[in-house]
Amino acid sequence: MKPEREWVETAKKNAALEAAKHVRDGFVIGLGSGSTAAYAIEEIGRKIKKEKLRVLGVPTSYQAFQLAVENDIPLTTLEEHPELDLAIDGADQIDEKLNLIKGIGGALAREKIVASASKCFIIVADEKKKVKTLGENSQPLPIEILPFAKTLVEKRIEKIGGKPCLRTGTGKVGPVITDNGNIILDVDFGLIQDPVKLEVDVKSITGVVETGLFVRMADIIYLGKPSGVARLPTAK
Ligand code: A5P
Repeated sequence: MKPEREWVETAKKNAALEAAKHVRDGFVIGLGSGSTAAYAIEEIGRKIKKEKLRVLGVPTSYQAFQLAVENDIPLTTLEEHPELDLAIDGADQIDEKLNLIKGIGGALAREKIVASASKCFIIVADEKKKVKTLGENSQPLPIEILPFAKTLVEKRIEKIGGKPCLRTGTGKVGPVITDNGNIILDVDFGLIQDPVKLEVDVKSITGVVETGLFVRMADIIYLGKPSGVARLPTAK
């Protein structure tokens, strides 16, 4: 097998190319965030040009917005199109029931809104993202919260068994501020055996805006492998 650094980028791109095959003329599409979704955005831009498709995009982050503009994808908003035909996005972890952890890129709230507005939600990733149980390999769960409620939310998260850590910037001192003006706690919950319950417990804490747990939301998952792409069956 090739060394990891040689196959992973190709695997991510191949998964994104498979997902872009679902794009049809007239579609309104949610544009995901992160390095794998970026390949899908580039491919959608290429298809629009080559196949003269009339497609509109709804970006999930400032990164996706910029990429869409660079790739000449006409944009719209959820205000104008509250129902989307398709959304394509990346993931940080995928469990055996195809539940996801997302949000290492900080765009989890808009990503989840766009995914829930979409008739078909496709995940693209390399196969290293697949695990038996979410939370393996010390993967934290990103949670977007209101800055005003930080200490209160931290205490309540600790009460339900999480260890919160405020996400701080690399190009700026202090916390990472999301595209929504909020902050992110990366929370160690250990192995997440019951994602449905954890989602309910965390969402019921006042001050929590959104969690990076995507429970039974994915319709199709394309996993890039050292050779080829696997399409995972859905939990639905
Ligand atoms: C952004 O907030 C995330 O949900 C990304 O989709 C996720 O982190 C995957 O990113 P990569 O494709 O860069 O690994």
